[in-house]
Amino acid sequence: MQTQLLNANDPHAVETAAQIIRDGGLVGMPTETVYGLAANALDGKAAARIFVAKGRPMDNPLIVHISEFDQIHQLVRELPDSAVQLAEEFWPGPLTMVLPKSARIPDEVSAGLDTVGIRFPSHPVARALITAAGLPIAAPSANTSGRPSPTTAAHVMHDLAGKIEAVLDGGPCGVGVESTVLTLATNPPRLLRPGGVTLEQLRSVLGKVDMDSAVLNPLKEGVKAASPGMKYKHYSPKANVIILEGSFEAYRNYVNTHCEEGTVALCYNGEGKELKVPCVCYGGEQNGSQQAHELFEALRRLDEMNAKTVYARCPEPTGVGLAVYNRLIRAAGFEVLHLE
Ligand code: TXA
Ligand code: MG
Repeated sequence: MQTQLLNANDPHAVETAAQIIRDGGLVGMPTETVYGLAANALDGKAAARIFVAKGRPMDNPLIVHISEFDQIHQLVRELPDSAVQLAEEFWPGPLTMVLPKSARIPDEVSAGLDTVGIRFPSHPVARALITAAGLPIAAPSANTSGRPSPTTAAHVMHDLAGKIEAVLDGGPCGVGVESTVLTLATNPPRLLRPGGVTLEQLRSVLGKVDMDSAVLNPLKEGVKAASPGMKYKHYSPKANVIILEGSFEAYRNYVNTHCEEGTVALCYNGEGKELKVPCVCYGGEQNGSQQAHELFEALRRLDEMNAKTVYARCPEPTGVGLAVYNRLIRAAGFEVLHLE
């Protein structure tokens, strides 16, 4: 299959992509978080093709995207007040709410669960595509399973060209990490995946919000994942990534005495000049949003450099830093060295 690259600025691009979705095809779609792999969320067969294209395990459910709040009513069985409050505060935007699903959601989309994740993205091209298709759109991140999520159309083409009908190029994504996933099917609500909407912001609206232990810790053997995606090794570059916790001074001393062939530093802007190994930077030390924006591109670059060992700087797990920490610690397979 030849994958069409459509420029979202072209006046017919969105309509062409919408027709592909209505016909049961797959389209790489820009959102404010990462690119999604879009299909008709009400068509089980179309959704099933997503799993094949990505090489995604069939038990990992898909998020359903809407472009108007009222579309939610046909997709869920119950709509608690808390969901309405969160929507008022954070939608459109990088928040996914997990709710009891309605009978209209095919089993392929919910992967056999009784719930469905709903998201109302803010990206104008995503919203235009959902509206033009006239359907809710199922979309996981548009990467090959196990690779870092794509934040440009080129990343999607790299992973999925030849396997999907089209990619709609809307430029690089703003947030850069995937949406916050919050389940409202438990009491109190529970954070399953941190993202652009922070835990602190959720608590300011809802009061008590728990954090699933899989956000910061490896899943214990035999324990069922609240969010199936958390049990898979994610965001993994081919290199062995090790997080070094401690001051920059301690980091620099460690890296400069462990510089074997193939070692690369994943560090903050401006730190490279003091290091004796090649560097990939992912934002300023105090700038969580910039780190989120640049992280996945940086992880992809490590692969292109054929890095063998990567020593990574990593932010404190608060604010947007929690999302960056969560992705990095998975990229590192939970390998953290505490310096000093
Ligand atoms: O920002 C995003 O959320 C992007 C863009 C495209 O919207 N999408 C995305 O989808 O990251 P995906 O499939 O790569 O990640 C969704 C995560 C997975 O870990 C999945 O297990 C979890 O959300 N999830 C989806 N539906 C769920 C449900 N009903 N219950 C629990 N977890 C769910
Ligand atoms: Mg994903």
